[in-house]
Amino acid sequence: MRLEGKVAIVTGAGRGIGRAIAELFAREGCAVVLAARTRDEVDAAADAITGAGGRALAVPADVSRREEAEALVGRALEAYGRLDVLVNNAGIFRPGSFVDMPRESWEEVLRVNLCGAVHCARAAVRWMLAAGRGGRIINISSIHAQRAEPLATAYDVSKGGLDQLTRSLAVELAPHGILVNGIAPGFIDTSMSVVDGVNELETDWFRSVYVGRRKIPLARAGQPEEVAAVALFLASEEASYITGAVIPVDGGLSV
Ligand code: NAI
Repeated sequence: MRLEGKVAIVTGAGRGIGRAIAELFAREGCAVVLAARTRDEVDAAADAITGAGGRALAVPADVSRREEAEALVGRALEAYGRLDVLVNNAGIFRPGSFVDMPRESWEEVLRVNLCGAVHCARAAVRWMLAAGRGGRIINISSIHAQRAEPLATAYDVSKGGLDQLTRSLAVELAPHGILVNGIAPGFIDTSMSVVDGVNELETDWFRSVYVGRRKIPLARAGQPEEVAAVALFLASEEASYITGAVIPVDGGLSV
């Protein structure tokens, strides 16, 4: 039990990578507060954890809205009385050319992927500083923070900003024992990366990613559980001397 007695918030925990992180943390003894956009997905994810004997609280929340992010942290403290780990995982991808992409889509990507992490971190850090027990923040970034793909500029920019948030917060919060790290997944098998059932623009974009997949040295997509394993490491005592790092989990794609 590597997180016995700890409390974590995981955003975007309704499915995919966030859900895998929440389930693994719960198996390691952590009480988990799961946040996602819809009540249905967050309830299902929390029920799976409690059904397996873990502790979980479902909170539908849109992290891009500051007041909902603050309420999320408030609900966690109300339910469990402490907060040790925040995993900023909620993210969206909207493909589109820089010029033609509707302004709303461009802003939505930044609001969720970057501002959402900022809102949650500010609320969590305020409490962590007051409690004086340190803490961990883990930002789920992407290899897109470091490399560009056609039609993905908004997403690339949002993840580049998130990596800088990781580094800047790591330096600012180090004196308080709050360690801040990131994970940069490559091509992970989730609903964000499905090819069927998406519109034509997305299909083109994903086809280009599939061509890119041939360049994955491990020659396969990653599984959400393989990202969760690294999040567990970063949340655990074993990562006590790591801060400001962004660890690739990409089968070698970024090498
Ligand atoms: P997904 O689309 O399967 O799940 C995303 C989750 O985030 C859902 O539960 C959704 O409800 C939630 N969410 C979306 N907007 C939200 C908001 N405004 N407030 C609260 N929750 C919100 O995505 P996936 O693949 O699990 O991605 C998770 C993270 O990993 C994202 O930040 C994504 O950018 C990143 N990532 C994913 C990769 C992949 O290949 N799947 C690769 C690199 C990074």
